[in-house]
Amino acid sequence: MSISRVALDLESLANMYLLTKLKRAVGPLYRQLTWRRRCKPEGVEGVRKLGHRGYVGKQWDEPGVRQFEFMKRRGLTEDSVLLDLGCGSLRGGVHFIPFLKPGHYLGIDKESSLIAAGTEKELGHGQLIERRPELVVSDAFEFERFSKVADLAVSISLFSHLNRRDARCALTRLAAWAGSGLRLYATFFVAEDGPKRRNPPASHAHATFRYTEEEIRTFGAAAGFSVRHCEDWHDPLANQKMFEFVLDRGR
Ligand SMILES: C[S@@+](CC[C@H](N)C(=O)[O-])C[C@H]1O[C@@H](n2cnc3c(N)ncnc32)[C@H](O)[C@@H]1O
Repeated sequence: MSISRVALDLESLANMYLLTKLKRAVGPLYRQLTWRRRCKPEGVEGVRKLGHRGYVGKQWDEPGVRQFEFMKRRGLTEDSVLLDLGCGSLRGGVHFIPFLKPGHYLGIDKESSLIAAGTEKELGHGQLIERRPELVVSDAFEFERFSKVADLAVSISLFSHLNRRDARCALTRLAAWAGSGLRLYATFFVAEDGPKRRNPPASHAHATFRYTEEEIRTFGAAAGFSVRHCEDWHDPLANQKMFEFVLDRGR
């Protein structure tokens, strides 16, 4: 083999080595900068493209029944005042609203088009008039816009789309609004890979956020909640885990 051939091989090896190093260094940064482009669209465009059912998940009937049955096991009665935090197109709401006393369902979501489709296409005008659910459109957890305070709250697949700041904000505002009587049941994707994992920088309805159990407890504690994992929640499709948040007495 000639000397020039050996030099050429060494050069291409060096280039490959440098390229691999560069990819490793820049790859995570590149992914952080372009993550939004890889997500399905949010908002009105997202609802138009995915449909009001497709926007909130892969299935409709079974996940709706599951959240209703779970909350009944946690003491939901027709007298309860239930907050559905991130109620979407009322996948759970269509079960909760006819069950609760009129005016006892409080739904909040940031997408007005989802709530509109949920009331028109899923709940129906009759139930809307008869059961008078309170439905608030807000992306800033403005619970004070409801006419009453909840004693129970459910939040299915909302915190799995929130960054740390928004997750903390939701819990802090909830605690300030509800006072000491409230119990919240909220699902999360639990991160198994600890501090190595990176979530997207901003909340997004179609991006996935994972937190360790310790982080979830810390979010709760910062707002005054004790947090407990609920073993009897099984979510075969999305594999999210359910946590109970109880406001510590005396707040
Ligand atoms: C995966 S969907 C689940 C909806 C509903 N809980 C269900 O089980 O069908 C998540 C919902 O959270 C809503 N959401 C996201 N960020 C929000 C925010 N900051 N405030 C209120 N709702 C929000 C989205 O618009 C979406 O409807």
